[in-house]
Amino acid sequence: MQIDNNTKLFGVFGNPVAHSLSPAMHNRAFAATGYKGVYLPFHIEEIDAAVAAVKTLGIRGVSVTLPHKVTVMEGLDRLDPLAERIGAVNTIVNADGILTGYNTDCYGAVSALVQYADIKGKDVAIIGAGGAARAIGWGVADAGGKVVVVNRSVEKGEQLAHDLSAAFIALDRIDELTADILVNTTPVGMHPNIGDLPVPARVFRPGMLAMDIVYTPLKTEFLKQAQAAGSRIIDGLTMFVLQGARQFELWTGLDAPVDVMRDAVLERLNYSGGH
Ligand code: ATR
Repeated sequence: MQIDNNTKLFGVFGNPVAHSLSPAMHNRAFAATGYKGVYLPFHIEEIDAAVAAVKTLGIRGVSVTLPHKVTVMEGLDRLDPLAERIGAVNTIVNADGILTGYNTDCYGAVSALVQYADIKGKDVAIIGAGGAARAIGWGVADAGGKVVVVNRSVEKGEQLAHDLSAAFIALDRIDELTADILVNTTPVGMHPNIGDLPVPARVFRPGMLAMDIVYTPLKTEFLKQAQAAGSRIIDGLTMFVLQGARQFELWTGLDAPVDVMRDAVLERLNYSGGH
């Protein structure tokens, strides 16, 4: 692609950001669709100054990652209603100097799940109660799923369950859980702790659907055990790519080349030894 006066600038704001997979994914998507854009990682300490720079420099779109997903909201002009309810933004769209915040993490998770199951009326266990759990929990509840929050610490889990009008089960009472779908939103099982499980393997049943947000490794112990018990599985990359695909569509108005984006991320992961 030729970079010229019409090229639009994009980036990811994070700290750390050096290992972000988003530049590889989005630049490949721009190339595949012929969209004139470049996407770069920005290591950001002060999010307010960075958001002001989006306007000053006319940056067209930004991905926002840890630790800025909540604090970024103050500096934006508008919030998508779902992002506002979740209380976190991972995407900024700059439309003629008006900055709007979206949450595509939520969209990525839900669109990954609906490729495999009708969520409506299903019992969906969200394991964990951090930021990812909050975003996915809202998305699932919005799509008509009946959310059960499962968390190690009771106070944090009960708070999220309360906010989502959902049920709560402490991790040490997991045997009381009945679920059609299980989503791991904890970092348990992530490289280098690849043998760890966020829930005991006995919770899995044939016909269940299990999704992990961890994607290093791609096939986590959680997904291995789920598959061994006859559950269907969705890896963390599916969700990651779909949240990126939604960003691409918000920024460009084009259909995202999802398969190409997944390939770009896979190549990047293999190149770095899978972690
Ligand atoms: P994020 O905002 O990225 O989702 P987070 O706020 O650190 O991440 O949340 C991580 C979640 O994973 C928390 O719910 C945490 O449980 P606690 O609330 O009990 O801390 C959960 N988690 C992290 N490590 C865990 C472990 N080893 N076993 C069980 N749960 C764990």
